[in-house]
Amino acid sequence: MLRVALIGFGAIGGSVYELLKGDAGLAVTAIVVPAEGVAAAQALAPGVQVASSVPASGIDLVLETAGHAAIEEHVLPALARGTPCIVASVGALSAGGCADKLEAAALAGRTQVQLIAGAIGAIDALAAARLGGLDSVRYTGRKPPQAWKGTPAEQGRDLGALTQASVIFEGSAREAARLYPKNANVAATVSLAGLGLDRTLVRLIADPATAENVHTVEAEGAFGSFALSMRNKPLAANPKTSALTVYSAVRALRNRAAALAI
Ligand SMILES: NC(=O)c1ccc[n+]([C@@H]2O[C@H](COP(=O)([O-])OP(=O)(O)OC[C@H]3O[C@@H](n4cnc5c(N)ncnc54)[C@H](O)[C@@H]3O)[C@@H](O)[C@H]2O)c1
Repeated sequence: MLRVALIGFGAIGGSVYELLKGDAGLAVTAIVVPAEGVAAAQALAPGVQVASSVPASGIDLVLETAGHAAIEEHVLPALARGTPCIVASVGALSAGGCADKLEAAALAGRTQVQLIAGAIGAIDALAAARLGGLDSVRYTGRKPPQAWKGTPAEQGRDLGALTQASVIFEGSAREAARLYPKNANVAATVSLAGLGLDRTLVRLIADPATAENVHTVEAEGAFGSFALSMRNKPLAANPKTSALTVYSAVRALRNRAAALAI
């Protein structure tokens, strides 16, 4: 039985906890949240150790679902101690130095940090295709106009008055992550699997004709080409998070415990 520590107990962490109840190969034995969230998490997960840092012993695997600060605060020390970690906040790796720090901590602990595919698919195909050489990778994120409220998309544009699809950003994944950090997870994941943050083209669209978040990835290279389009349903607990991210995290955990992994 693998003993799992969850870092973060919000929309993703809470859903992962529910899905793993009664799992034959994995048990959530610790939950890590900021000090002010300990009592609430204890009430939702009776019998599980809830703390504001990852226990130094008795943990076989860590799943992070808490954001950039938690990577610095909890994932880096856990890796350095030798505990393997699975990271959901892949957008955090767009920040300068974060990927290098994760790699260095995992090397120091002689362990591994795994980034989940999360809300997007075809990451296996993209990462494999990279070995043969990729010529171009483009990610397009299309969301209803109100999903872009509170972002630079509002500058010089009345999102509520849009009557047709409007491109709000076109540029590199690095620039997209800087300007739209809350939407950085998918672009960062596609970049890390493929051509990197500077050569991955990102287009963000506000579309009054869609009620869903539509992610499209198009790639070309020596392998051939593919185009993937996903219409993800949101999690009720956090409409900004795709439900698929939860399943992606649970799949990553179960693959660590399974005799046959896919
Ligand atoms: N890879 C993907 O495709 C993908 C998709 C959606 C979300 N995400 C990322 O997953 C993360 C969680 O998303 P969510 O929807 O569950 O968010 P959420 O806001 O519902 O939950 C976040 C949780 O993390 C906790 N937390 C925050 N800072 C912490 C810290 N320093 N230490 C410990 N706990 C801390 C909060 O208390 C909360 O319990 C976010 O970083 C988000 O960007 C990734």
